[in-house]
Amino acid sequence: MKKTDHSPHLNLIIAPSILAADFGHLADNVRAVAAAGADWIHLDVMDGHFVPNISFGAPIIAALRPVTDLPFDCHLMIEPAEPFLADFAKAGADRIIIHAEATKHLDRALQMINDLGCKAGVALNPATPIEAVSHVLDRIDLVLLMTVNPGFGGQSFVASVLPKISDMRAMIGARDIRIEVDGGINAETAKQAIAAGADTLVAGSSVFSGTPDLWADHIAALRG
Ligand code: DX5
Ligand code: ZN
Repeated sequence: MKKTDHSPHLNLIIAPSILAADFGHLADNVRAVAAAGADWIHLDVMDGHFVPNISFGAPIIAALRPVTDLPFDCHLMIEPAEPFLADFAKAGADRIIIHAEATKHLDRALQMINDLGCKAGVALNPATPIEAVSHVLDRIDLVLLMTVNPGFGGQSFVASVLPKISDMRAMIGARDIRIEVDGGINAETAKQAIAAGADTLVAGSSVFSGTPDLWADHIAALRG
């Protein structure tokens, strides 16, 4: 079959965000969501400064590392990120995603992540233009386009990001860079984001709702 730009879902990645899990039973929830068909585990780190909420840091990620072999996709919503990158690498992050808005020296910070032996990604808030990553494409394997304003789970999908996903796909061209969307992703918005060119879906509340026996169905619904 001929692969076109807009059929990246042939290789769709689902990355459940444990922000919506039960923090009292995190290890069990990670095991359950892995068994339910998650491809990656998405870890939302918030500092109460770059975003108006605090979640968890590197020690929690280190504690979860022995629980699963799935890749850890660490989304840092912290400013500055640079002083903490080594901690997240040591905690077991496979990929470290930093916000373009949270560093003055994006290129240097991405080099630091690569030097730590991790994959690097850049996240952009809904209002940040894609040009923010146009000069660092050689340093990253993923762009995270926020489809909510970061800080909280359970918010509504910002549909004005859809044309931005298509523009990002065009900018990436033939490069091996994934487009991840994050925020308000459910079966309906997943379809829209995939049609626009996303190939990696973060989902918190739509995966972790209800009891763990339902999570495989929730993940399957995102795959469409
Ligand atoms: C928001 C986080 C998201 C969030 C997604 O700042 O980056 O990963 O957990 O949660 P839902 O899927 O509930 O919008
Ligand atoms: Zn996230």
